[in-house]
Amino acid sequence: MWANEFKRRGIRAKCLAMDDVDFEEVAQQEQVFCLVATCGQGEFPANCRDFWKSVSDDSLPNDLFANTKFAVFGLGDSSYVFFNEAAKKFYNRFKELGGKTVSNLGLGDEKDEEHYETKWNEWLPELWNELGTPPPSMELLPPSYGVTVEDKATTAVPDVIVPPGMSIFFCKIVLITTYVIKLSVLGNLFLVCALSVNLTDTD
Ligand SMILES: Cc1cc2nc3c(=O)[nH]c(=O)nc-3n(C[C@H](O)[C@H](O)[C@H](O)COP(=O)(O)O)c2cc1C
Repeated sequence: MWANEFKRRGIRAKCLAMDDVDFEEVAQQEQVFCLVATCGQGEFPANCRDFWKSVSDDSLPNDLFANTKFAVFGLGDSSYVFFNEAAKKFYNRFKELGGKTVSNLGLGDEKDEEHYETKWNEWLPELWNELGTPPPSMELLPPSYGVTVEDKATTAVPDVIVPPGMSIFFCKIVLITTYVIKLSVLGNLFLVCALSVNLTDTD
């Protein structure tokens, strides 16, 4: 998600799980973006626990991240007491270690109308603004459908209009049946007339 956004803006970025990053390596980066969920009751997700253990070490110098800019966005749920706790802890710790924050802490909320995307879509433009990155170039997406233009003279125009959901065969059956019913009604009428004529003759 984030890696694609960077790519579209022509920024070279590496996307890794936090536990696959050495915190000393972080200190050498110009900009670091941290996307983190909260599990359990305010706990860190499994793939960032080692990293947290390293950065939360009290013996680290408080200017460790002095040359690094940070942005943190949390994926949380406001129905939990420890809403976005992991994101808050990382954000505060990066600041304690001298890191410069590029934007405010983003607090994605599962309870928002479009889940975490509601806050994400508010927060991300602010981040790009702060970073001064130009908007991505406009791309025309490939069409999702094709259109064939046919010559009018060769296009067969149907002379029978079939109501939707019916076949021509079914229509024919309906027509024949109504015709037969009409004939039998007429026949019966004719019979009644003939009989009444006969009866009056015999009088
Ligand atoms: C078992 C469980 C515990 C959670 N605990 C918290 C919590 O303490 N605080 C919080 O803000 N969100 C909490 N959440 C919400 C998740 O952080 C949120 O749904 C997040 O978007 C999940 O991301 P993922 O499942 O895609 O990793 C919890 C979710 C689950 C399923």
